[in-house]
Amino acid sequence: MSSIYIETYGCQMNFADSEVVNSILGKEGYTTTKDINLADYILINTCAIRDNAEQRIRKRLHELKALQRQHPQLRIGILGCMAERLKTQLLEEEDNVSFVVGPDAYRKLPTILQLVQKGEKTAETELSTEETYSDIQPVRIDGNGISAYISIMRGCQNFCAYCVVPYTRGRERSRDPHSIIEDAQMLFSQGYKEVTLLGQNVNSYRFTEADGTLVGFPELMERVAQVSPLLRVRFATSHPKDLSDELLQVMAKYPNICRCIHLPVQSGNDRMLKLMNRHYTTEWYLNRIDAIRRYLPDCSITTDVIAGFCSETEEEHQDTLAMFRTVRYDYAYMFKFSLRPNTYAEKHLHDDVPEEVKTRRLEEIIKLQGEIALENNQKEIGRVYEVLVEGTSHRSKEQLFGRNSQNKVIVFDRGNHQPGTYVNVKVTNCTAATLIGEVVEQA
Ligand code: SAH
Ligand code: SF4
Ligand code: F3S
Repeated sequence: MSSIYIETYGCQMNFADSEVVNSILGKEGYTTTKDINLADYILINTCAIRDNAEQRIRKRLHELKALQRQHPQLRIGILGCMAERLKTQLLEEEDNVSFVVGPDAYRKLPTILQLVQKGEKTAETELSTEETYSDIQPVRIDGNGISAYISIMRGCQNFCAYCVVPYTRGRERSRDPHSIIEDAQMLFSQGYKEVTLLGQNVNSYRFTEADGTLVGFPELMERVAQVSPLLRVRFATSHPKDLSDELLQVMAKYPNICRCIHLPVQSGNDRMLKLMNRHYTTEWYLNRIDAIRRYLPDCSITTDVIAGFCSETEEEHQDTLAMFRTVRYDYAYMFKFSLRPNTYAEKHLHDDVPEEVKTRRLEEIIKLQGEIALENNQKEIGRVYEVLVEGTSHRSKEQLFGRNSQNKVIVFDRGNHQPGTYVNVKVTNCTAATLIGEVVEQA
């Protein structure tokens, strides 16, 4: 039987989708290989969020030509957001690609592979308003058997001015809560200790049951948290405009809902936020930060930010730095603005901040955030955390690593402890990225 090799780029949702693809093809008898040299089909699940994400894929395709020369029967397919954005254009531009499949067309993969085997080239990129792959049990690929993703919704229709996602993922739709709970229960019974509920904007999750009752995100969280107190629940991403007190109250009620909120700010300036079509002001954002601190005093807060969006002035950039000083994020994903085809920014604004200015602004944000993260971590010294052990530390075989509820990585001496268990660890030292600790008997 034919074997497939899946390579995944981009966000957690793409990783979750690759598991759906793995499941769909597995049911048809395809086997997954971890050795690319043994593959009959290479499926590359791609990201289109920034230009460099796409350049990376183009480079990878070029590299794979050597392998294709050695294995003439090998076929390469492009899945995911870049497939959706470029459609048949990808078949024209990349001569070693045989099939292009968008995020809502994965059920067609078995048929597509049959066509491809006959030597045809094909693109399936229709988006759906309903597809959630609800009935498909994802087959985990490179999992650690401890922590798993559960996709709870698909698509996004916020249309932030810079963002390509609404075009590559289609309309927002929520998945049936029963199938989500079943997934969580099944994972827990298989030994998983942590699930992360995924969506571009999880706070706008809403599903109407057959009897007309509406299930919102706080209620869904509550149901997942009730699967077991030993199952940690995380979620990403929250849009600041929809982060409700009700959700924070549910979080406060369940200690197994992790104390970590990812709240992308994008900019610390109101004119920029408006231009970005974010639907909140800095005042609103800071009000949400206050609410988090009030309900969940031990919650970590992380963010995404964009440097050098269209027409951003030096003062406006300073406002972003000021926002970072005020909130004191525990972690941040920091990006240089990249103009994406078809977005509002591309059609109506000017990408006029020079590249070197974008780079310098980004570096200033990175430097400041590095200082803040280190200071935040230094305050952790002496505290004791319950840590879910995930595996052996990358630096030393004698050490394990895991995460606390706040999603901070903690490294400690192995002792007799095992991955997949909870241990209490006292923080004794730190870097800006990692906490270092020792196991103690109790919290
Ligand atoms: N749904 C999430 C984010 C998804 S994309 C949200 O709304 O917050 C992840 C991050 O990539 C975004 O938060 C943003 O910071 C960044 N990003 C998106 N488009 C970008 C672009 N064109 N240039 C640079 N960064 C971008
Ligand atoms: Fe993109 Fe905005 Fe949707 Fe996030 S909320 S995926 S940034 S359009
Ligand atoms: Fe990239 Fe698509 Fe995710 S563009 S960030 S893989 S939704």
